[in-house]
Amino acid sequence: MKKPKIAVVGARGRLGSAIVRYLRAEDFTVDAITRDDLCLTDPLLEAKLGDRDFDVLINSAAQTNVDACETEREGAFAVNAEAPRRMAEHCKVRGARLFHVSTDYVYDGSDDAARTEESPAEPKSVYGESKLAGDDAVLAVSPEFFVLRTSWVFGPDRPSFLDNALGWARDTDNAKAIGDKVSTPCYSEDFARFVPALIASDEGGILNVCNSGACTWRDYAQYAVEIAKREGVRFRTEEMGSLPLEGFPHFTAVRPRYTAMATDRLAKIAGRAPRSWQEAVEEYMLRHWIPALG
Ligand SMILES: NC(=O)c1ccc[n+]([C@@H]2O[C@H](COP(=O)([O-])OP(=O)(O)OC[C@H]3O[C@@H](n4cnc5c(N)ncnc54)[C@H](OP(=O)(O)O)[C@@H]3O)[C@@H](O)[C@H]2O)c1
Repeated sequence: MKKPKIAVVGARGRLGSAIVRYLRAEDFTVDAITRDDLCLTDPLLEAKLGDRDFDVLINSAAQTNVDACETEREGAFAVNAEAPRRMAEHCKVRGARLFHVSTDYVYDGSDDAARTEESPAEPKSVYGESKLAGDDAVLAVSPEFFVLRTSWVFGPDRPSFLDNALGWARDTDNAKAIGDKVSTPCYSEDFARFVPALIASDEGGILNVCNSGACTWRDYAQYAVEIAKREGVRFRTEEMGSLPLEGFPHFTAVRPRYTAMATDRLAKIAGRAPRSWQEAVEEYMLRHWIPALG
């Protein structure tokens, strides 16, 4: 069967870069669209997408600065809600599929239960509100489009919390990370490896895409420190300390406390479960983070 042509919006981002690289390696024709090619708030968005040749549009672009969204509400909604709605309308008219990437920040995170695709969404931040408005808008245009909810994305293409925390542990004596916020890390390369199965399926709707398991920010960072220590990397902080989420002074936006995600639906659609976040972090450390130290 002929492979569908793919376009990726947000192709220079942490997740978009990994998706483009993986799909090309799998012999898909991929149009990698960056902000330089197309700004999501461009009044000519539909016309510019109309000039491109694709059967599946993957939108991994977003205003992802959670704190900036609090003070720039209008801009957050323009990029995270209005642009996905316009992309969905465009895809519907031209008969293409849309895979729109979303976030665990749509949940309020108040109870310790893994979020499934049916869990109610009650965002606590402007970022979460704007992303939920995007999810709802996409599915209102077509319930056959995918809204792919992910969390704590890390990978080689753009530094994430994990790289920052490893830097604190290397360079300072008392490095700490928040020890009571729980979610599920997602290795960008593992997310990308699931995309062909999603292209092959005729399912749609909300779908959680991340690694399996759950951890705190502190335990996630500590696990990576342990792998690096085992490989001979030296740290000034060998045991990360723990900080409470409540009252953390550097956050403007409220973060949800517990948003671990269940991946049963992903396993059913793809025919395989995602590997654990620990296995994914180990691969990242051995293939990317440690070699980059030189
Ligand atoms: N990172 C996480 O931990 C996390 C967690 C949960 C969900 N997500 C979701 O996963 C998706 C991908 O996130 P990511 O981690 O890959 O984020 P990222 O590295 O910040 O990438 C976002 C991309 O969007 C592009 N972009 C932003 N505003 C744009 C605009 N107005 N027009 C065109 N492009 C624009 C950025 O362009 P530039 O390259 O020019 O900056 C960037 O390439 C997003 O939907 C995000 O909400 C991420």
